[in-house]
Amino acid sequence: MARNSLFLLAMLLTLLIGLCSADWNILNQRKKAVSGISLKNYCESWRINVEVNNIRGFEVVPQECIEYIGKYMTSSQYKADCQRAVEECQLYLSSFCTLKGDGKDAWIFDVDDTLISTVPYFKKHGFGGHKLNITSLEEWMQKSKAPAIEHTLTLFHEIKEKGFNIFLISTRRESLRDATVDNLIKEGYHGWSGLVLRGLEDENKNVQNYKAEARKRLVKDGYRIWGIIGDQWSSFDGTPAAKRTFKLPNSLYYIS
Ligand SMILES: *[C@@H]1O[C@H](CO)[C@@H](O)[C@H](O)[C@H]1NC(C)=O
Repeated sequence: MARNSLFLLAMLLTLLIGLCSADWNILNQRKKAVSGISLKNYCESWRINVEVNNIRGFEVVPQECIEYIGKYMTSSQYKADCQRAVEECQLYLSSFCTLKGDGKDAWIFDVDDTLISTVPYFKKHGFGGHKLNITSLEEWMQKSKAPAIEHTLTLFHEIKEKGFNIFLISTRRESLRDATVDNLIKEGYHGWSGLVLRGLEDENKNVQNYKAEARKRLVKDGYRIWGIIGDQWSSFDGTPAAKRTFKLPNSLYYIS
């Protein structure tokens, strides 16, 4: 009898040890899979998924990625990414755009983080880590101190020399018109055909609809929209669409 119980006990122990070690193995593997992703990997994939518009409508940059996003937005990689977007745009212009030259060939630019940069503001305000304070951002915009994004500045003048009519469509409010024009001219932009800003009647529209309506007015006036370059998806989506769109990187904020 005693022998039998001992045997049973031994069996039970073996079984338990087997189960425990199996569990331990699974745990170990899980640990490996998680530790295979560094914080840098995690934040870079967050950034890429923002760029391709899988992540939408975020209000703040995830706390653990603020430092990473801050580094990226002030890096030579950000500049190289902007430059590449501009080069693709130039390729399109030289290979696929045969203008009619009747004064109805149009090109659209965003303003913030396309022509001029808000990065100096965000540098002082937590790199997208705090919820956006519009009052404080608009106070900064009133100072007309946003620097040009150099590759877009070059592109702007190339597009103008090709004979396009340039339209700037921005989510900035009408109250910022003077400051915006001053800022743009100070940074080397001039000769656009229209600057569309948000009036009171546009405040309750979502940005995609507001921008699509501005394009609708252009099309109604007989313009052909060859392209849009901007840093937000809400500048491209909706109808009428442009023939091509070029996205500049921006993982500091999302405008929908
Ligand atoms: C937003 O900015 C304004 C102007 O700088 C400031 O007075 C206000 O306290 C800020 N609001 C919040 C919630 O931080």
